[in-house]
Amino acid sequence: MFYFGTPVALITTLTSADGSTNITPISSAWALDRTYALGVGRDSQAGRNLERCGELVINLPDAALVAAIERIAPTTGAKDIPAHKRGLYRHEPDKWSLGGFSPLGSERVQPARIAECPVQIEAESPSSRPWTVTMP
Ligand SMILES: Cc1cc2nc3c(=O)[nH]c(=O)nc-3n(C[C@H](O)[C@H](O)[C@H](O)COP(=O)(O)O)c2cc1C
Repeated sequence: MFYFGTPVALITTLTSADGSTNITPISSAWALDRTYALGVGRDSQAGRNLERCGELVINLPDAALVAAIERIAPTTGAKDIPAHKRGLYRHEPDKWSLGGFSPLGSERVQPARIAECPVQIEAESPSSRPWTVTMP
């Protein structure tokens, strides 16, 4: 099993409304044998997408993609931007063009892979398990 140690992963998920693949930078990702634990905000487009279609690709970028990731960082695929994100994020329906990423058809899941990422992990989520902890 590949225990990756990257500060950012780009997950790609399927937006069912138009069948497009959305790109979301996340840093909350841990590998546990063949299982990956991901922390994805439910109000993000990725979170919404995963509730409808649990298939995704965990794309691991290299340092050459820093500028591309910075370009998509202040954006969301969600048309209705949650209140806490307004002023910080803008809606961007095509992060592929904005970041200069190229879609590559996946072998086992519907969302596309990011061709520029040297590692692409196709995965499916059988369930989403919201668990939160609060410091006493
Ligand atoms: C470096 C970096 C790390 C991030 N890590 C996470 C994370 O672990 N979980 C998360 O839900 N959002 C994370 N975000 C924020 C999401 O990328 C952001 O909410 C984005 O708007 C989601 O896009 P989407 O709504 O199109 O899915 C991170 C952003 C950046 C730039």
